[in-house]
Amino acid sequence: MQSFAYIIASILFIIGLKQLGSAATARRGNMISAVGMLLAVIATLAGSGFSWTWIIAGMLIGGAIGAIAAKKVEMTGMPEMVALFNGSGGIASLFVGWASQQNPGPGGLTTASEIPLFLAVLIGGVTFTGSLVAWAKLSEKIDGKPIQFKGQQIVNIAVLAAILICGVLFVMNSGGTWNPWLLLIVLLSFVFGIMVVIPIGGADMPVVIALLNSYSGLAACAAGFIISNTVLIVSGSLVGASGIILTGIMCKAMNRSLGNVLFSGFGSASSSGGTAVEGEAKPISADDTYYILEAASSVVFVPGYGMAVAQAQHAVKELAAQLEENGTEVSFAIHPVAGRMPGHMNVLLAEADVPYEQLVEPEDVNPNMPATDVAVVIGANDVVNPAARTDEASPLYGMPVINVDQAKTCIVLKRSLRPGYAGVENPLFFCENTRMLLGDAKASVQALVSQFKED
Ligand code: TAP
Repeated sequence: MQSFAYIIASILFIIGLKQLGSAATARRGNMISAVGMLLAVIATLAGSGFSWTWIIAGMLIGGAIGAIAAKKVEMTGMPEMVALFNGSGGIASLFVGWASQQNPGPGGLTTASEIPLFLAVLIGGVTFTGSLVAWAKLSEKIDGKPIQFKGQQIVNIAVLAAILICGVLFVMNSGGTWNPWLLLIVLLSFVFGIMVVIPIGGADMPVVIALLNSYSGLAACAAGFIISNTVLIVSGSLVGASGIILTGIMCKAMNRSLGNVLFSGFGSASSSGGTAVEGEAKPISADDTYYILEAASSVVFVPGYGMAVAQAQHAVKELAAQLEENGTEVSFAIHPVAGRMPGHMNVLLAEADVPYEQLVEPEDVNPNMPATDVAVVIGANDVVNPAARTDEASPLYGMPVINVDQAKTCIVLKRSLRPGYAGVENPLFFCENTRMLLGDAKASVQALVSQFKED
């Protein structure tokens, strides 16, 4: 019966994951996966002889922390929260490994369980401290700049080699209450987790988080092998595989390899740069922007991180509705790495009930950009930087961007001329056809909405 429940749970995970692939079905996909997880938990507990006091206490404490954290988190704080979740997954797998070493059952530990135990502790430990560093960088508890020093790769290789040697020694002698090799593996994997994330810049943290998410899945999969739990092996593998696919999608969207993200120190003083940008930006008032929009027959909105900060999505939806009423063709161009997490803009626009059919991918919108009357950039910066197309010296060079500079008129809504997250100057602000509507994005859009209402 338990195996049957595990098969159903695994099928629900896979259907749920498939449905997460589209904004229209994502909510349902999440629900289906959650039902699968509930079934897996019930089936595991029903077939066990566990101490219920501990389990109920754990579920109540963990559930309460999770519920409060999920309720309180701002949309802009989601990546930090995912980082903490990944770290919790990693440390949980480490504890499963450790507890199994302390209490290996009647047959004792065999090589078949010692190897996954070593992997669960190693990957779990790396995921734990790596996620904490990623969280600290994203929430600006520590400087987001890459921390690099001479001989860093050699130190990392030495730490990894030491972990592997301890792993071999642990497999040769895995007994004892305080097994020294296991303790050393725990300690060194914590150190390794910190060492591999500190040289990566804050702007690349979302990629690191997706990668650590994959690691947390692999650690859970190894823990599943230790305690012979099929559904943990399946769900861990699914998280491991989906995390690595997501990492690949993000790297592709930035036109960078995973190696470049992990080792190039992108975002350090030496990597930010490109040809110096010169010119004078032309500001525009909300009144004048209104006249331009009112006369436009096609408008493309390009949201970015600033829209999330300003929480302008509802106002933007209202403006889009007014433009449509006015006979304007409206669409929303969504860059895959706009914002700070995958699908960030899609989630915000879905929250504001923007119809899915109005969302377009960069490769679909770019060919039509020269025929577009107005591109309205709402708090986006790096993902609309034309230097990615034109300036070989720019760190963004080669990243596919949304070509708003090619629209007949481009209106940029942001608070200043400061660069975006990658720290790279944006020549878009100085283009002949660009106008800067400076100020908080929500206030600016609301001013436009009021103008339409007055009309
Ligand atoms: P960014 O380049 O980060 O620019 C956002 C802009 O929003 C800022 O320049 C800021 O300018 C403006 N802003 C902030 N608050 C605002 C407010 N209240 N009102 C109006 N504007 C406001 O954003 P993007 O174009 O979305 O690019 C995302 C960046 O994150 C890229 O570098 C991308 O590679 C990186 N990244 C993202 C991901 C994922 S998965 N999304 C993954 C890895 C890396 P002011 O300060 O002048 O207002």
